[in-house]
Amino acid sequence: MWFQIEWPCSTNTIQSYARLLTSVCALVSTAAALTPLEVSGKDFVNSETKDRFQIIGVDYQPGGSSGFTSKKDPLSDADVCLRDAALMQRLGINTIRVYNLEPSLNHDKCASIFNAAGIYMILDVSNPLEGGYLDRSAPWTTYSAIYYKQVFGIIEGFKNYDNLLGFFAGNEVINEGATYQAPRYIRAVIRDMKDYIAKNSKRAIPVGYSAADIRNILMDTIHYFECDLKNSTSSRADFFGLNSYSWCGDSSYKSAGYDVLTDDFTNATIPVFFSEYGCNEVQPRVFTEVQAIYGEEMTQAFSGGLVYEWTQEDNDYGMVKINDSKTLTTLVDYDNFQKQLNKLDFERITSSNATQANVKAETCETSLIKRKSFYNSWDLPEVPSKVSDYIKNGLPNAPVGKLVSVTGTTIPQKVYDHTGKEITGIKFEVKSSYNTPSASSTSSSGSGSDSSSSSDSTSGSGSTSSSSSSTTPNAAAFNGAPSIALGGLGGFFMLLASLV
Ligand SMILES: *[C@@H]1O[C@H](CO)[C@@H](O)[C@H](O)[C@H]1NC(C)=O
Ligand SMILES: *[C@@H]1O[C@H](CO)[C@@H](O)[C@H](O)[C@H]1NC(C)=O
Ligand SMILES: *[C@@H]1O[C@H](CO)[C@@H](O)[C@H](O)[C@H]1NC(C)=O
Ligand SMILES: *[C@@H]1O[C@H](CO)[C@@H](O)[C@H](O)[C@H]1NC(C)=O
Repeated sequence: MWFQIEWPCSTNTIQSYARLLTSVCALVSTAAALTPLEVSGKDFVNSETKDRFQIIGVDYQPGGSSGFTSKKDPLSDADVCLRDAALMQRLGINTIRVYNLEPSLNHDKCASIFNAAGIYMILDVSNPLEGGYLDRSAPWTTYSAIYYKQVFGIIEGFKNYDNLLGFFAGNEVINEGATYQAPRYIRAVIRDMKDYIAKNSKRAIPVGYSAADIRNILMDTIHYFECDLKNSTSSRADFFGLNSYSWCGDSSYKSAGYDVLTDDFTNATIPVFFSEYGCNEVQPRVFTEVQAIYGEEMTQAFSGGLVYEWTQEDNDYGMVKINDSKTLTTLVDYDNFQKQLNKLDFERITSSNATQANVKAETCETSLIKRKSFYNSWDLPEVPSKVSDYIKNGLPNAPVGKLVSVTGTTIPQKVYDHTGKEITGIKFEVKSSYNTPSASSTSSSGSGSDSSSSSDSTSGSGSTSSSSSSTTPNAAAFNGAPSIALGGLGGFFMLLASLV
């Protein structure tokens, strides 16, 4: 339901009429919450409108994997999240992936900021700390209640956020160092997570796996996880992510082997997307693969992808460079990626396709697995009894997250483009639907053109230039109602992101 309220939440009167305004803002901000996504056949769709959703994303791990500790993870610092969410909105993405998270930390503010920004989150449930992951070389040693405190802790922490797209039960667990038995343990983790979610969450949050691009076992890997197991239906993966770096520089559909990937995944029965892409062997990156990934040939096989990665770290994959806590530089890659996104035809890539929704999984059987070296049985390990108790009764004493109203300041950091010119006018906007590329090029000049064009482009930015058609989630319902941009007042604005 949409209430057409033009009254900005941040006005001089906010203190004196705090009460009244709170209720007004609550209405506005409730409308601004993202609608949860769900899996329909091989597509992600908006759970209300059933419009198709394609991931346009970035992998988000500021500080790199070594920057993670039990005291600080990428979604625990609201100032950083606000800064990054504003710059991601400007870039045009709709999803982030976060790898390492700590269940005991509070993520409410960051999750609410990304929710209000129109950005979904896909989260890995493992972390590199002791007890936080499944040991790929001997998974039976870590498939235990200790590991499940981490896994179920993440589910509890994040299950109530509407912008949670899904969980990865594992990332590249199957690789050179993995034991033959790794697949059955991963499938068991998917089962246990889905059983836990079914018992302890009010909505069905999708659970999938993120695979390394090892071509000779790629098909075996997806077949192993997507097939239908009659005696354990919940162990089936809901989606499949592929970490692939085969497109380098200004490559092409064929030379990058994307044609092979398309053939491979055309018959998939779950959504498939690039959970990492963006080879950096040729620099700067030009991201011409964007036109292929969202182009006519691939769009039925893939549900988009996430570029590796947001911040510049030692491995040199960044879009932005954090100079220090007060300044940040957008790199050439940021501009190049934005230019590619701005060319996308949104109406086409979000149109749903009944054929896609009605695919049926094959039954799990040994003949699905082609390589001798790949595990070909579905005799999943039994759930440890304590884990069984957690599933039945919920993980005891786990912090449960919820979307909150967020009080923030305007982006306090200074942002420079790659030529050293300051970019002004970057602001955070509350979106009524998921974020999309703005279609107006804002980058290379490094000027503050964003701010002057944004009042026009906010409603249009939801690809709502065609908003009367129902191809855009939410937008039709809101019928061109502008997103609510919250301006600063004395350097202060109050953002009521979402109330549950
Ligand atoms: C996909 O399915 C079609 C129809 O069943 C079949 O002809 C084709 O060979 C399959 N492609 C792959 C790569 O398995
Ligand atoms: C719908 O999806 C099917 C299967 O992926 C594909 O063959 C077909 O071309 C799609 N139709 C449209 C109109 O895109
Ligand atoms: C920030 O870092 C970038 C990239 O290393 C550099 O070009 C730029 O001069 C730095 N800017 C500031 C303000 O420190
Ligand atoms: C479930 O079915 C698979 C495949 O048929 C089989 O390998 C496995 O042993 C069965 N598990 C149980 C508990 O019956």
